[in-house]
Amino acid sequence: MRENIFLIGFMGAGKSTIAKALCRELQMQLVEMDARIVEEQGMSINDIFAQYGEDHFRDIESQLILTLGEEGNTIVSCGGGVVVRPRNIEFMKKSGKVVFLSATPETIYERVKNSTDRPILNGHMNVEYIAELMEKRRALYEAAADIKIETDGKSRPEICKEIMERL
Ligand code: S3P
Repeated sequence: MRENIFLIGFMGAGKSTIAKALCRELQMQLVEMDARIVEEQGMSINDIFAQYGEDHFRDIESQLILTLGEEGNTIVSCGGGVVVRPRNIEFMKKSGKVVFLSATPETIYERVKNSTDRPILNGHMNVEYIAELMEKRRALYEAAADIKIETDGKSRPEICKEIMERL
């Protein structure tokens, strides 16, 4: 059985795109956490935050991650905030390899500036806010990661190649 791969990192770090490409390369299964949550709850992430609050979303996210990857051979594209609950990190480390995709706040801003489906950034769509939140989370991402990949200025194939070489 092949180990799972968990992709973590800030919103807009490229987790979904890289997860899809890696799945094709490595012939592994793909789980996109946010998409799975939307499907299972029958609600958008924005609506979950608006109606039930962030804590409730974090509960759903934690429940989901604990059920993932039992079969192995799965690439999980995690929500950017998955590292805020220590138990999630513990689980990921036990059941696979954790890959941290990093990018500068400027790069992140360029990638997410037109999106309105990230409640954490709605109303705060600027580089300063992104930099501040990233700083708060940086130590969590770094501590959770088995490997860290800097993605600024790199193409999708370059990032995939680097992950495969380093895993
Ligand atoms: C969040 C990241 C989002 C999503 C939710 C909260 C966060 O996922 O889970 O909006 O707290 O960083 P992406 O990283 O896939 O955008």
